[in-house]
Amino acid sequence: MQRVSISHAAPGMVVARNIFGADGKLMLAEGMELTQNRIRLLERIGILSIYVRNPYFEDVVIPEVMREEVRVKAVAKVQQVFRDFRITHQLNADKLQNTARQIVAEVLSNSKVMLHMTEIRTHDDYTFVHSVQVCAISVLIGTVMGYPNAKLMELALGALLHDVGKMMIPQEILNKPGKLDPEEIDVIRLHPEKGFEFLRQRHPTLSLLAMHVAFQHHEKFDGSGYPRGLKKRDIHEYARIVAIADVYDALVSDRPYRAGMLPHEAYEILMALVDNHLDGEILILFLRNLAVYPIGCVVELNTGDYGVVIDVRSGLQWRPVLRLIADKQGKLYQGDVQFDLATHLTTAISRVVPEDEIFALGYRPVKQAGS
Ligand SMILES: [Fe+2]
Repeated sequence: MQRVSISHAAPGMVVARNIFGADGKLMLAEGMELTQNRIRLLERIGILSIYVRNPYFEDVVIPEVMREEVRVKAVAKVQQVFRDFRITHQLNADKLQNTARQIVAEVLSNSKVMLHMTEIRTHDDYTFVHSVQVCAISVLIGTVMGYPNAKLMELALGALLHDVGKMMIPQEILNKPGKLDPEEIDVIRLHPEKGFEFLRQRHPTLSLLAMHVAFQHHEKFDGSGYPRGLKKRDIHEYARIVAIADVYDALVSDRPYRAGMLPHEAYEILMALVDNHLDGEILILFLRNLAVYPIGCVVELNTGDYGVVIDVRSGLQWRPVLRLIADKQGKLYQGDVQFDLATHLTTAISRVVPEDEIFALGYRPVKQAGS
């Protein structure tokens, strides 16, 4: 399968992975053919990219930390809990705990998978998608750190709740387009304390450590964060994990005002935050499990060859296994010509090839006979 942005989707392409709307409803099922109307529908609900079948990429299955249907259902539940909260000022903690449990189970069942960050997002649900994504990434880090189930659950709940205090900040400030003035920034910076106080007073039976994630996720390792300027191990380990997941997800997410970074770009930014904003030891563990060139990504080599990433290994993620697709003259390779960068140390990836150029290589997803 191949990921294409909606602007490159064309009638005749065949959907390779179920597409869900923001409410968790199935919009288009795997195997359905795109039509002009269907593409317009996807655009209208804010789908930015989809997976389509491509005979050249047929066996390239993009692994996920969380299956799309589990992710979409979790987002819908978090959205419902937080939206109800704005109206009733009550938090359905049981529902969130259930969602946390499902995310932990899902990540554990895929725990051999590196983080490929291939999820499809819609425009309007950033806050809820972000909470779920931060939760999944945090659980993945917890798994790598050898956490038992009970700790993973606390961590997951803390991650889902990390920004609950934002529900207590006026929406005009939260959603203000453009720059915030200093007073507005001060108001937003109250969200960790507001969230913590709310949870402690109204939901005293929830894990106190999970509440501390809400309180401490903006603390920085060198003491330059807020609200209390805590340092190093005075910041609870869960909050140090969630801070990493929070920054990473914010970097790679598409926002209305900018496209998300690619994983290898986000990797470099995170490296610059080692031991100042973020806990370096935990960050390194996370980065070892991040596919900087995710499966399905097309790259150009310093030899001029083009290839698609077909395998990524932990610790070797800068040297993935490729299937070569074209040489520097643009002539297509025939069959499965594999190239393992781990055994070709004088060859390097020079860049990630943008979608337009992939299509220019002649690798268009086409309707297959019989599909
Ligand atoms: Fe926050």
